[in-house]
Amino acid sequence: MYVCLCNAVSDEAIRDAVRQYQPVSLQELKQIVPVGTKCGKCTCKARVIMEDELQII
Ligand code: FES
Repeated sequence: MYVCLCNAVSDEAIRDAVRQYQPVSLQELKQIVPVGTKCGKCTCKARVIMEDELQII
C-alpha cells in the first residue's frame, strides 16, 4: 500500500528502510526514503509506521 502518493513510497519500503537504517526521527527517515517531501500529507502515517517498526509505540 502506498503511504506517500507524491513519491510512490509504500509502507513496506518504509519498514525496510527502518529495519536497515534504524532512523531515530522522521527527518532521518526522509533522508533514506522520500516521504513527506512534497505535499506532506503522508508524514503522520509515515511516522506511525516508523515508530511501529521501531516498536516505540
Ligand atoms: Fe507524501 Fe505528498 S503524499 S509528500
